Amino acid sequence: MYKILRSILFLIPAESAHYLAMYTFKIFCRIPFVNLFVKFLFSFENNNLFVSQLGLKFKNPIGIAAGFDKDANFIKELDILGFGFVEVGTVTPLPQSGNPKPRLFRLKIDEALINRMGFNNQGADQMVARLKKIKNKEIIIGGNIGKNKITPLNEAHLDYLKCFKKLNPYVDYFVINVSSPNTPGLRSLQDKEPLLKIIHTLLDERKQEELKRPILLKIAPDLTEEQLDDIAEILNTTKLDGLIATNTTIDRSKLKTHKAEIAAIGNGGLSGKPVESKSNDILDAIMSKVKRKITIIGVGGINDGASTLRKLEKGAHLVQIYTGFIYGGPFIVKRIKKFLISHLR
Ligand SMILES: Cc1cc2nc3c(=O)[nH]c(=O)nc-3n(C[C@H](O)[C@H](O)[C@H](O)COP(=O)(O)O)c2cc1C
Repeated sequence: MYKILRSILFLIPAESAHYLAMYTFKIFCRIPFVNLFVKFLFSFENNNLFVSQLGLKFKNPIGIAAGFDKDANFIKELDILGFGFVEVGTVTPLPQSGNPKPRLFRLKIDEALINRMGFNNQGADQMVARLKKIKNKEIIIGGNIGKNKITPLNEAHLDYLKCFKKLNPYVDYFVINVSSPNTPGLRSLQDKEPLLKIIHTLLDERKQEELKRPILLKIAPDLTEEQLDDIAEILNTTKLDGLIATNTTIDRSKLKTHKAEIAAIGNGGLSGKPVESKSNDILDAIMSKVKRKITIIGVGGINDGASTLRKLEKGAHLVQIYTGFIYGGPFIVKRIKKFLISHLR
């Protein structure tokens, strides 16, 4: 059924298809009685899927990764689809339009996407306004925060701080995103000195806040051994609560798509199936280097129950999915949950 819907959606440019599908689903979820049927279709909870991490209770370990709901528009709908948590953002202090379109591309035979969105978002104030309106919140919400393109790199920590202060009452955890390849220089913030500046700024601010939210760091899959050692040291020596591994990759070496087609797309981060092994290698490296008890969220290339299980078996406590959801369709979460129930001890 989704294969037919997907072949129609795939006729439309990828970014438009995303909003068309989600807003249509939103309308269905608001029609009386139809919404009950939709909820029934996607519902599948089981106490064995319950995860307790970061001082939070997740009804299941499968989250929607950052970038899918950049402006916190679809939290209720993603809850209905069965996700255990939603990470909104990346949000920046000021609204920004991101890179010119087209900026999202499908690589169908690789079950992958290339994007150079460039943190298009409506800004932290708009996100707060939207989060304030949510009544009877039943799903865990993470706030993935970043810097505006116009902010110089040496002032980046102030952008993260602005987002942190504004969102603190409304999200359950924070993610410092320094790993997107589409904001010039952003990934250099993964180096020890600038990264520590951001982390200490937020940890100091957290001490002042009444609500002390967990703070995680999201890293790229393209880090060198030396950078990974630095990240591990930071995780071992600061009070960061967790790590998200990984963002998209700039490596395009293992793609089946024709080289000319890939070259024509231009710059961007690659996600989906081809990123799985890279993300999993980073998981392995981090698991062996980090000596403190932190929460690990595994993301990159999940497209079914088996790929979810691979991340959990490597030590991830929770997982996230983006590209696999685009290719696998709305029932993928339910399928993964059923697989986990039959395979988890
Ligand atoms: C279109 C698109 C936009 C994304 N935007 C963000 C973002 O704003 N912030 C972020 O941390 N990651 C972003 N990501 C990365 C995803 O959160 C995820 O880390 C990555 O896609 C790997 O997971 P996947 O293989 O399941 O897609 C984006 C990914 C895609 C495909």
